[in-house]
Amino acid sequence: MEKNSNDYAYHMPVMVEECLEGLNVRRDGIYVDATFGGGGHSRAILEHLGAEGRLYAFDRDADAAGNAIDDSRFCLIGENFCHLKRFLRLYGVRRIDGLLADLGVSSHQIDEGERGFSTRMDGPLDLRMDRREGRTAADLVNTADESELEQLLRLYGELPNAHQLARAIVERRTESGISTTGDLKAAVERLLPRGRENKTLAMIFQALRIEVNGELEALRQMLEQAVELLNPGGRICVMSYHSLEDRLVKNYFRAGNFEGEVVKDFYGVPQVELKVVNRKPITASEEELVRNNRARSAKLRVAEKAESGKRKAESI
Ligand SMILES: C[S@@+](CC[C@H](N)C(=O)[O-])C[C@H]1O[C@@H](n2cnc3c(N)ncnc32)[C@H](O)[C@@H]1O
Repeated sequence: MEKNSNDYAYHMPVMVEECLEGLNVRRDGIYVDATFGGGGHSRAILEHLGAEGRLYAFDRDADAAGNAIDDSRFCLIGENFCHLKRFLRLYGVRRIDGLLADLGVSSHQIDEGERGFSTRMDGPLDLRMDRREGRTAADLVNTADESELEQLLRLYGELPNAHQLARAIVERRTESGISTTGDLKAAVERLLPRGRENKTLAMIFQALRIEVNGELEALRQMLEQAVELLNPGGRICVMSYHSLEDRLVKNYFRAGNFEGEVVKDFYGVPQVELKVVNRKPITASEEELVRNNRARSAKLRVAEKAESGKRKAESI
């Protein structure tokens, strides 16, 4: 695979300093970058690791392999992070000291018109991060029931007119099929609220992307495995870009489940394995926002594995 020449041309990393501080990197620790992308965060972690430290990075997009870092302490695993435990075990890793996940898509994925992630470019309606598997967004919009489309537009796009949008998609596919981003835009164009056309289109694309890539389920699986793998005192840092992901992370960090309800034992002691490090999510500084507009919706949450077993939630 050819090396991508300029690191930041692929993706400009968000809140690098904040992530490093959150991870609290130990020089001899074993770390995971669950979303390698352009490798910006991985490079920063490697700078803080000593000769004994190790960094395992995951990315399900084959294009990310072009950014692989030539360093004996580094290993890139081209897989979905929902298989975190399985692939780490393949490398003999059973415990880790920290994990970072910078969710969502890279600028590279958005900028490549033929991947279908961009609402602005015309290209095949694909939207898969891993092009080896699964159905494309075109498959989805051409085959799903109207009610399934409505549900995912409502759930993952938080679109109030999901019913009309799903109907318009089905009408269009019956007339002429939908194979490109342009076809999808044409199908829904008349339903985009004035002044909010781009935002609404972005939410439609987000809904399809979440469904096509099984993003929320992958996140749930990764979080559960990460907590199992973490050594006591180890940190997990997750950066999310929309409220559906952030809610899952917030609930899981706080309560150890995705509903966010803290379970107590017989004596009323909360049964939680993580301690929330920052009560409120960390957001990018004004200075970073000037440099990198994509940082504007990022929310970083950090939690630490309790020293032994389940812990009281007194500091949460
Ligand atoms: C926002 S980018 C990460 C950018 C990276 N932190 C950097 O500094 O360049 C997200 C990356 O995570 C990858 N990704 C998203 N979901 C994934 C999953 N479930 N498993 C593995 N990789 C995933 C995407 O392919 C994308 O390259």
